[in-house]
Amino acid sequence: MTASAEKYTPQTLLDVQTLTPSLFTLRTTRDAGFRFRAGQFARLGVTKADGSIVWRAYSMVSSPFDEFLEFFSIVVPGGEFTSELSRLQVGDTLLVERQAFGYLTLDRFVDGRDLWLLSTGTGVAPFLSILQDFEVWEKFERIILVYSVREARELAYQDLIAGLEQREYLREHGHKLQFIATVTREAHPGALHGRITTLIDSGELERAAGVELSAEHSRVMLCGNPQMIDYTRALLKKRHMSLSLTRRPGQVAVENYW
Ligand SMILES: Cc1cc2nc3c(=O)[nH]c(=O)nc-3n(C[C@H](O)[C@H](O)[C@H](O)COP(=O)(O)OP(=O)(O)OC[C@H]3O[C@@H](n4cnc5c(N)ncnc54)[C@H](O)[C@@H]3O)c2cc1C
Ligand SMILES: NC(=O)c1ccc[n+]([C@@H]2O[C@H](COP(=O)([O-])OP(=O)(O)OC[C@H]3O[C@@H](n4cnc5c(N)ncnc54)[C@H](OP(=O)(O)O)[C@@H]3O)[C@@H](O)[C@H]2O)c1
Repeated sequence: MTASAEKYTPQTLLDVQTLTPSLFTLRTTRDAGFRFRAGQFARLGVTKADGSIVWRAYSMVSSPFDEFLEFFSIVVPGGEFTSELSRLQVGDTLLVERQAFGYLTLDRFVDGRDLWLLSTGTGVAPFLSILQDFEVWEKFERIILVYSVREARELAYQDLIAGLEQREYLREHGHKLQFIATVTREAHPGALHGRITTLIDSGELERAAGVELSAEHSRVMLCGNPQMIDYTRALLKKRHMSLSLTRRPGQVAVENYW
């Protein structure tokens, strides 16, 4: 094994599902030695026709206890990585770095009553991993998952989300979850209509959740579009909520996707 090959393992694609022309999901085998915490990401590699490897960060959708790895991906038109990734088929190889990374994990928060998981687009991925792990259900009284997409057809993993409370190990906690979808570029029954930032600013998100965003009780994770994260952080700052750091515990944890 070469020095660089020691950093990653080849995994086999078990399943590929196309959701829209620009969104798809991937399931791969998992190396027995690959460990991660719910909310973390892996660096994935694809080999191009010229033999070079392109690497990008991807959050795990699957839980740390699943035997497989699952990822949720955008297709960026002309994107170096996703142009290659979206060509892969069942049986093809995806490279996965041995080390998982990231701080969008529950140990960011030392306390809190309500956990808000605010996502745009594929940024919902780490929250799906967190929600499939038992820890979050024990740690918080309420969990509010907010998922913002342009069009309703882009709302992925609806069956997984709806099925969480049916899972044997979550039965007594399932009622804690509130799922709020917001669709920004069309009206959709059952979903809000507006950006997360607008909905926070107007108070509509809190009204929909039936719970207040407050420094005392709320802990907030943000994932996806970097502008959404910047604006939301500014809105939360006005409510005295700030980034949670090891030396100074706070109320907010973030993962920018680009
Ligand atoms: C910590 C971390 C975790 C990530 N997890 C995921 C994930 O789970 N799923 C995923 O699809 N991507 C994820 N990304 C983004 C991913 O790493 C790549 O940027 C993406 O695969 C596009 O690669 P590319 O080479 O085709 O285009 P790039 O050259 O990397 O990106 C080109 C442009 O496309 C847009 N873009 C990139 N990623 C996204 C996205 N996810 N949604 C919307 N627009 C995007 C941005 O405008 C970006 O500037 C993550 C990024 C980081 C930093
Ligand atoms: N989604 C598609 O149909 C599609 C198709 C082809 C290519 N692409 C490309 O893919 C990339 C992004 O795709 P995406 O739709 O997954 O991600 P996105 O542009 O980040 O949009 C996802 C959600 O985040 C919201 N959002 C965007 N900027 C925000 C901000 N500053 N504050 C608060 N909310 C914000 C969007 O609302 P708004 O609707 O109000 O922006 C939408 O609800 C773009 O580069 C795009 O060109 C997308």
